[in-house]
Amino acid sequence: MLSSEEEEQLKQACIQAKSNSYSPYSKFRVGASFLFSNGEIVKGANVENASYPAGICAERSAITIAVNQGLLATESIKAVGVTSDTDNVVSPCGICRQTIREFANLDTPIYMWTSSGAVTVRTLEELLPLSFGPDNLA
Ligand code: THU
Repeated sequence: MLSSEEEEQLKQACIQAKSNSYSPYSKFRVGASFLFSNGEIVKGANVENASYPAGICAERSAITIAVNQGLLATESIKAVGVTSDTDNVVSPCGICRQTIREFANLDTPIYMWTSSGAVTVRTLEELLPLSFGPDNLA
């Protein structure tokens, strides 16, 4: 679990990321952030497309940035955060859960903040039980 300072940093990064959301079709802004073992935070927003399936969720948007920065070659994921503008819990979609599974540990905490700031925390394994990952191909 994170310190209260780290948790606040992760939350603020999600809120900042959300402000860059490109979501003219759903009008549903999402911001995600990843905290790494070296303290770095990488954030991303959902990016939609006129050809709807070409859109990408905030979580995968952030994780592709982290991979391209080379961060995942040396650092591990300490926590994941996600927020949107609704007062319901928005949890990573199935595809995003699987993408996170590729790079994070099963006990990695995923923090989900509602727009009013209430937090729900679940481990990756809780969100994606009996999952298939890189170790299954080893
Ligand atoms: N979305 C995310 O970015 N992350 C999630 O965890 C759930 C859904 C986006 C995809 C789409 O741009 C919009 O929210 C509505 O589904």
